[in-house]
This record gives sequence, C-alpha cells and structure tokens, in this order.
Amino acid sequence: MTREVIPSGAALGADIQGIDISKPLNDDDRKFVTHAWNDHLVLRFRKQYLEDEDLIRLADEFGGAQVAGSRQYYINAGYDTKSGRVSRLPGITIVSNLDKDGKPEKENSGTGSSELFWHTDNSYVDNPPKGSILYGIQVPINGGGDTSFVNQYAAYEELSDAMKKRLLAMHIRHDNSRNTAGGTRPTAKRPTKREEVDGPTHPIVRKHPDTGRNALYLGRRYAPPSSYIVELPQDDSEALLDELWAHATQDKFVWTQVWQPKDVIMWDNRCTMHTRNKIDHTQPREMHRSLIKGEPIIPATAP
Ligand SMILES: [Fe+2]
Repeated sequence: MTREVIPSGAALGADIQGIDISKPLNDDDRKFVTHAWNDHLVLRFRKQYLEDEDLIRLADEFGGAQVAGSRQYYINAGYDTKSGRVSRLPGITIVSNLDKDGKPEKENSGTGSSELFWHTDNSYVDNPPKGSILYGIQVPINGGGDTSFVNQYAAYEELSDAMKKRLLAMHIRHDNSRNTAGGTRPTAKRPTKREEVDGPTHPIVRKHPDTGRNALYLGRRYAPPSSYIVELPQDDSEALLDELWAHATQDKFVWTQVWQPKDVIMWDNRCTMHTRNKIDHTQPREMHRSLIKGEPIIPATAP
C-alpha cells in the first residue's frame, strides 16, 4: 500500500494510510509522519493492532515517552494496577468508562462517561507533553465519546493585531487541581481564592519549535477561582479569558473524530485543544494513551 496523507477537509486532521505503526518505523516513515503532523496537527491511523508497549515505542520514536501528571495523584490516593485507573506501564494512561470489574459506568474514579472540558493535555505540569497518542480499544457504536479538536494556530492568526500584541506579554497560571471532567483530583485541594491556585505559569501564546508558528495556549478553563492571567486583576482576567475561549473554540476551527475500534489518533498539544462529548454509559469505551515528551515552552515572538 502506498503512503498517503488524506486531509479531513476541516481546519485540521488527516488520515495516514500505508504505514503500519505496530512495527518500529524506519527513518523515512518517521519523517513522513512528522511532516504530515506539522501540516495537519492531528493524524489518524485506522485498523492498528497495538499493545501498550507499541504506544510507548511510538512516543519514543517521536521524542520520548512522558508519564502523565495525573498518575501520581492516583498512586498517592492508594490506587493500584488492579483499580482500572493505574496502568501497568507508567507511560500509559487508561481513559475508560469502565469500573474495576470492567463494566461501563456513568461515573468512575476517572472521567467516566462525562462530557469533557476543552483542554490541552497536561498543561498543568512544568513541561507539558508535545503530543498525545490515543488508541481506541473498545468504542461505543453511535454512543458518543467523539473527540473534537480545534486548531490554535488558526485561532491565534485570526485575532486582531492589537490583541496579538497585547497577548505577547501575558501568561496563564494553570490550575492543577481538577481533571478534564471538572472533578477534583484525588488528594488535590480545590482553590477557594485566586491566591490558592497551584500550577505552573505558561505563556498564553507559544511558538511551535518545528513550524515557527504562534499558537494560542489556553490549557483548560474551570469556574473561578481557577486558572488566570497573571498580569491582570481577576475581573479583567476573567473577561479576557471568556473572550479568548469563545474565539478559540469556534466551529470553523474544529474537526471531530468519530471512533472506530483500533483507531489511533496522534495530536500535537502545542497547537491544538480537544474535548469529547458524552458517552452512552451502557456501552464500554476503553482507550490507552501515551504522551510524547515536551520541550520547554517557547514564548511567542511578535508576528
Ligand atoms: Fe485530553
């Protein structure tokens, strides 16, 4: 089968055909995928038969595997590998609506069958992963759990020149206390005022090291007190974040992945955000994810 990139036709996303990612990639295939990734931000490989070790190997091939920030919270709270939350391999995150006996549930100790907030993975750690690789092991049929992505280069580029200039000097403190369904992480303390928000500070616009393009980097948004713009007083921070979030998640920037079993999606956390809609909680949805190690965040430069 010849190698092919088939763009989704939306603001981001492409299918890659003709590459078997269940085996180590040769240099040429790796360059082909990297090139397509930089062009399309989110790549889909269908009908892949992978083990957890393959997901780690793939992360290694694109920069090294990174352990998810959430893992330690679960371990600190006493979860073990029998809990269904903590994977056997540290580089694997289990994303599933199953309980520990393997039955689908509305709620479990993870994000269950809930709709998620828009977010970029692990923005609440000092060095967020540059990419994520998500493998659909069991997926619902016509049962939701679709994953949508937004192009944050495009969102940045459509801002006014005055806004672009204003954002160059700004940073967000990223609240680390909650998961992407809005639940408080086990053992974490939810802030009761802005001063209690714990997490790293990152530039609100970042420069992509490979493409040199600027992208909005908003992380995730919860009801305050939570992530805020450090250079602004609270009310001004809320107003600007409201405006930027409404702008960044417009339909014109979106592509949605409707899962088929054995789909693999590889996305770039530096220039995209993602979410998922609600899952029919009577159907099992089980995914395993690896993270690709991130380089230190590069602040944007003037356009
Ligand atoms: Fe995510």
